[in-house]
Amino acid sequence: MIVMKNVSKIYRSGDIETAALKDIDLTIAEGEFVVILGPSGSGKSTLLNVISGLDSVTSGTIQFRDVRLTDLTEREMTAFRRQHLGFIFQQYNLLQNLTVYENIQIGSDIGTNPLPIDELLESIGLTNARDKYPHQLSGGEQQRVSVARSLAKNPDIIFCDEPTGSLDEENSKKVLQMLQDLNDTFHKTVVVITHNNGIAEMADQVIRMNSGRILSVTRNPVRKAASAIHWG
Ligand SMILES: Nc1ncnc2c1ncn2[C@@H]1O[C@H](COP(=O)(O)OP(=O)(O)O)[C@@H](O)[C@H]1O
Ligand SMILES: [Mg+2]
Repeated sequence: MIVMKNVSKIYRSGDIETAALKDIDLTIAEGEFVVILGPSGSGKSTLLNVISGLDSVTSGTIQFRDVRLTDLTEREMTAFRRQHLGFIFQQYNLLQNLTVYENIQIGSDIGTNPLPIDELLESIGLTNARDKYPHQLSGGEQQRVSVARSLAKNPDIIFCDEPTGSLDEENSKKVLQMLQDLNDTFHKTVVVITHNNGIAEMADQVIRMNSGRILSVTRNPVRKAASAIHWG
């Protein structure tokens, strides 16, 4: 689904150069659950940003199915991102003056083939909270709403950058289980970026990064359920 070849990213500010990605070669298959692990500063977010066109590469190519993303104009990339990619971040980024339902609706309005909002509410277990506002929900519930919002437009792949970074173990495992369910049920490709080693046990493919490089790529013969992974 995604093939990155020789991708490098150098940030320049004044005389200072930071090589955030160095010669990255990476393949993500359709329907995979991928976990990208690495310490802070290892280039995980930069990797996500260049795949999603939020940031340009310094060199190398990125292919998504039959589209070479690194050849697209900024405008084409924006349209591509809206149609095909979903995002979940550590911050829930919900609009505080909109209800749960309305926040999810924002996601579905973007898509050309959106998923039914009522089904999404059901799948995140928040049907009864549809008319509540974000401040009336726990952090875990808010993150589940942001998962539903990103899923609503029916993206082909969902990128999650430290999705459980603000949550305790119990709520983290609920959010992770939802990601696993949508991988199983809707066959969505899911990429989770984290520095929590335990989450790697859920993955098909585990990519370990350090200092802008890929240290190793491994495959789990068996994926664990979110409830069964080690934490911390
Ligand atoms: N916009 C930017 N400008 C300059 N340097 C950056 C920028 N974004 C990230 N970096 C640097 O690139 C490296 C990788 O950062 P990042 O991808 O955010 O790592 P991670 O997500 O693994 O914590 C770090 O050294 C960081 O300081
Ligand atoms: Mg990061």
